[in-house]
Amino acid sequence: MGNRSHRNPGHIGMNALRKRGKRHSSEADPVPTVLGSTQHAALVTDCCSLLQSLPDESVQLIVCDPPYNIQLAHWDVHDDYTTWATRWLREAERVLSKTGNFVIFGGLQYQNEAGSGDLLSLIVDMRKNSEMRLVNLIVWNYPNGMSAHRFFANRHEEIAWFARSNQYYFDLDTVREPYDAATKAAYMKDKRLRPESVEKGRNPTNVWRITRLNGNSKERVGHPTQKPRELIQRIVRSLSYPGSIVLDFFGGSGVTTRVAIEEDRHSVTCDIDPTYRAYLQQQFEMLKSEELEHGRSYDYHVSETLDSCHPIFLKQGNCRTGENNDGV
Ligand SMILES: C[S@@+](CC[C@H](N)C(=O)[O-])C[C@H]1O[C@@H](n2cnc3c(N)ncnc32)[C@H](O)[C@@H]1O
Repeated sequence: MGNRSHRNPGHIGMNALRKRGKRHSSEADPVPTVLGSTQHAALVTDCCSLLQSLPDESVQLIVCDPPYNIQLAHWDVHDDYTTWATRWLREAERVLSKTGNFVIFGGLQYQNEAGSGDLLSLIVDMRKNSEMRLVNLIVWNYPNGMSAHRFFANRHEEIAWFARSNQYYFDLDTVREPYDAATKAAYMKDKRLRPESVEKGRNPTNVWRITRLNGNSKERVGHPTQKPRELIQRIVRSLSYPGSIVLDFFGGSGVTTRVAIEEDRHSVTCDIDPTYRAYLQQQFEMLKSEELEHGRSYDYHVSETLDSCHPIFLKQGNCRTGENNDGV
């Protein structure tokens, strides 16, 4: 079968631009804005209250791992899930910048429980009521999980990646996977391939094989649905840039805050459960050990409130100096 990418209008357009020495608007170099330490607001509050306090088009990346009302925990209970979800979905779209990306975790686990939701119901809502485009449906494939006898044991979850506009930011090079030695040697000899492209590694594709955290994993802080740091890292690296703002309004274990610090992004996160503070504390302790172990040093500042001079307001040129925004 022929290479279908040769007939893909997106690829044809990008190649034509490159031949003319030009770049697509989404490839324009973002202006790095880290001058000193990165700023991290980590609040205990409701997602909708936090969202309402954020300026329009101020966020580069939203990492969103919502509760689906499947009684996983006390926070996972809503009478009318879809109505609730549409409130934060609309706000999320409003706060995303034109280059912004929105990733939503979930599965297709809807089992007709009254009021429950799943990723499919969110995608259907987005298709009907949002201008964002679905760029990829990423399959997170994990080798470990529960056994099953009445159906095939589940080994994947989905991550829907939506972009705010066609100018969405995407840095593939930060997440390429190195070829194994034998493949690399063979590709280096292949005259049709450019050595610098081979050196960069391969596109990790939209199927990501990353192990789920086991109960005794060193990363675990005690949250029941904590996502692996490697997974969040790949998202943050490819869909945001240093100095940009990462938002996670279902913060859970605090892993997004930790990755934002490590990757030199600013962040705004929240969770309705006050245990969030204790989880974050553990994340910061792990960061400290990492700094000692690897001789690294992260320059960051964390606040339990969203201060008026957090870069989320500065980027808009609307620093709310003097205005007390504590206790959002
Ligand atoms: C699926 S978990 C997120 C897990 C997180 N991604 C991680 O890797 O640790 C969903 C989180 O949403 C929080 N939550 C539920 N309802 C909320 C609300 N209305 N506002 C903010 N957080 C909420 C829960 O406390 C829970 O920690």
